[in-house]
Amino acid sequence: MATPFALLKTSLVKKYWMSLTGIFLITFLIVHLLGNLALLGSNDGNEAQIAFNEYTKFMTTFPLIKIVSYVLYFSILFHAIDGLMLVAQNKKARPVKYAHNKPEKNSIWASRNMGLLGTVILIFIVTHMGSFWFKYKFTEMPIDPMGNKDMYSIVVLSFKELWYVLLYVVSMAALAFHLYHGFSSAFQTLGVNHPKYTPVIKKVGYAFSIIVPAAFAAIPLVIYFSN
Ligand code: HEM
Repeated sequence: MATPFALLKTSLVKKYWMSLTGIFLITFLIVHLLGNLALLGSNDGNEAQIAFNEYTKFMTTFPLIKIVSYVLYFSILFHAIDGLMLVAQNKKARPVKYAHNKPEKNSIWASRNMGLLGTVILIFIVTHMGSFWFKYKFTEMPIDPMGNKDMYSIVVLSFKELWYVLLYVVSMAALAFHLYHGFSSAFQTLGVNHPKYTPVIKKVGYAFSIIVPAAFAAIPLVIYFSN
């Protein structure tokens, strides 16, 4: 039988890995967002189409980025599985909620629902990769005037569907809440606890959790409402 200390240790190790993979996924979000903003460029003379398709080709063929992509897929799977195991482990450790310490008063809603928020994000990622990444890698694609696979047209066509736009907006709301707690929590778990830097990390985390998901959600909204 595992001792309480061993259980604490495994739970701490799990949280450590959650933080490391989480910070890596945060950096991915920045790169992915910057690339996707090319979708909103002017498309006079097919400029946005050509720029976005060139970018997608680079991201899927450049050898170093290909290696980083495998680390990314592994991190997403690891972060999701490890997170669900942590939720299950916490439930098992405390099957009956404390009657007196009012969790809703002592912690924010997002921190108590990271498993639920993460599950919504995972469902989003699976759907999202199915419609773009899988199509790009494994199906026959239309070709743009430069001879590249025309991901731009596939994305723009998808964002003309209301249900698909709504899926993005709802998922980005879940991402915002997940990051609102997760960003600073990751640094705290890694032991960054400093009177000067911790408040800065918290502020940057809150700003990031609002700005990045809002910018992601804006892309389908702008495309849906433009002609
Ligand atoms: C407006 C928002 C978004 C657009 C237009 C978009 C677009 C795309 C496209 C076109 C691809 C396939 C091409 C490629 O592999 O580079 C892709 C891949 C991917 N997207 Fe997104 N994306 C958006 C938001 C997100 C968000 C919020 C996440 C994560 C929460 C995400 C996660 C991924 C992942 C993991 C891949 C596979 C990347 C790889 O193979 O290296 N995307 N996205």
